[in-house]
Amino acid sequence: MNTKIVTVHDPAQELSTLKEAAEILRTGGLVVFPTETVYGLGGNGLDADAAKKIYAAKGRPSDNPLILHLATPEDAEKYAYTSELYYRLARAFMPGPLTVVLPKREIVPTSATGGLETVALRCPSHPVAHKLIELAGLPIAAPSANISGKPSPTCAEHVREDLSGKVDMIIDGGECDIGLESTIVSVSGNSLTLLRPGGITYDALCMVAEHVTVADAVLHKLAENERPLSPGMKYRHYAPKAPVVLLKGEDARVLSFLLKEQKTKNCAILCYDEELAHLKQNNLISVGKKDDIAAQAKCLFRALREADATDAEIIYAHLPPTDGLGLALYNRMIRAAAHTIREID
Ligand code: TXA
Ligand code: MG
Repeated sequence: MNTKIVTVHDPAQELSTLKEAAEILRTGGLVVFPTETVYGLGGNGLDADAAKKIYAAKGRPSDNPLILHLATPEDAEKYAYTSELYYRLARAFMPGPLTVVLPKREIVPTSATGGLETVALRCPSHPVAHKLIELAGLPIAAPSANISGKPSPTCAEHVREDLSGKVDMIIDGGECDIGLESTIVSVSGNSLTLLRPGGITYDALCMVAEHVTVADAVLHKLAENERPLSPGMKYRHYAPKAPVVLLKGEDARVLSFLLKEQKTKNCAILCYDEELAHLKQNNLISVGKKDDIAAQAKCLFRALREADATDAEIIYAHLPPTDGLGLALYNRMIRAAAHTIREID
């Protein structure tokens, strides 16, 4: 398949390009588009065949459900059974990096929901995504636009690496703002369960809902026979070929450990800006300042792709904190590291 690649920064300037993309979606094709979290691989969310095409392009198991992207929070009425708490969440966080899981209506094909009777809904705030969904006049089913198992793409170059020749169009909208996928919650009465942490933090959710429970799979490795509440959490994800080890300990000790390792091993290191001048430059990848979790979140997936492209036998990174946006970073990094944490003392 010939993949058309276009650049759109301002939807008003490139309306005809977005209309063309919307027409591809309406006629059953696939379009990759930018969002504020990561790039999405979009298809018509009401068309079972489009869902099949999405799974095939990604190489994704078909029991891993897709998120439906909507132009406005009220559109949820057409596809799901909403609730008062849903609208409280919508007022606080939509459009934005929040996905809400609700009981689905008949019209949503189970092929898009991995066979589940629930559906995940999100209204992206990215102007290109918003305009595209509006023009298509459809809910757009879109997983992250990476090959299954690889880190989610945060720029069009990463999408091209993974999906060239497998989709009809890629819309390049520059680098994604947040760089980690949306926060996912499921709603039950007055309670929320946090299924995947993201740009909307646990503390922010607690301001809106009385009870917020963090699903086990967010922080911990599930036992072989355990089923996560969000099917995607069971799959290997973000993991480069070389093993990733997360280091925990006092800054100075971790730095001297890394210096020693660089002498004896071919290692790649995801380091803080402050450490750049102290380490050997070979396979050294900076992820931002130590206290700037937003910067680290924004470049984690790029850094993992870069580390994967080296010939390193092992990849070291710092264990992030679990508060605020740190929880999302922690969740992605422990999964990249298959929960391998080394304490340095
Ligand atoms: O930021 C994002 O959410 C991006 C952009 C493109 O919107 N999308 C994204 O989609 O990350 P994906 O498919 O890579 O991850 C969606 C996650 C999966 O782990 C899936 O298991 C979970 O959402 N999910 C979808 N529907 C669900 C449902 N009905 N119940 C529980 N989890 C669900
Ligand atoms: Mg994904």
